[in-house]
Amino acid sequence: MAKDVIVACDFPSAEDCFRFLDCFSQEKPFVKIGMELYYAEGPDIVREIKQRGHKIFLDLKLHDIPNTVRKAMRVLSRLDVDIVNLHATGGSNMMKAALDGLTRADGSRPLLIAVTQLTSTDQSLMESELLIKKPLDEVVMAYAQNASASGLDGVVCSPLEASRVHEVCGESFFTVTPGVRFADGDAGDQKRVTTPAKARELGADFIVVGRPITQAEDPVAAYRKCIEEFLG
Ligand code: C5P
Repeated sequence: MAKDVIVACDFPSAEDCFRFLDCFSQEKPFVKIGMELYYAEGPDIVREIKQRGHKIFLDLKLHDIPNTVRKAMRVLSRLDVDIVNLHATGGSNMMKAALDGLTRADGSRPLLIAVTQLTSTDQSLMESELLIKKPLDEVVMAYAQNASASGLDGVVCSPLEASRVHEVCGESFFTVTPGVRFADGDAGDQKRVTTPAKARELGADFIVVGRPITQAEDPVAAYRKCIEEFLG
């Protein structure tokens, strides 16, 4: 899949989401549906957005025992999404079970990627609350290698980690990077952030951008600015 900007449609209802998507008359942005919208509206929201012609990253970040994740992925495989994800911290057996569940009878499946460490996590949180005493980027690389060895297609990580992930796991193992802000933007709860232009320089394959576009006064202009900075 070609590099792209994925818009995080973190809205509380279908109505809010469609009000936002209706602003786009010329483009069909790649859309990320996360927990908020999916839990509010269920699988119909996925079908409706797909029907409107958008590519979809279904960001439900599964994390459970392998058997539960396999069965949940089997259900999700019926939705015609392009990318789904899980937490790498579930371990390699869980990731392999997920791939198995996701693969349809004809052998096709959505791309499967793993969240390494959330971009809202920093070194101090990891050490004091998760009791992981290693450097954050070492942890991210180890999780990425584990995901790659389990047969996954890529990872979610900070743009700051994208080039190292490619070095460690190969160029075709793709990186999806949230934590993107315009140079003059507010970071909010994100900690490991960078601009779309910098994410491009660092070799990110996809950037996930939410509030800088969805909360902008002119969302279409903000989206276009992202595309221009990221894709050039
Ligand atoms: O609004 P903002 O640009 O911060 O949105 C980022 C999106 O990416 C949110 O939907 C968030 O759930 C998601 N995400 C993230 N960090 C990860 C994985 C997903 O911020 N590691």
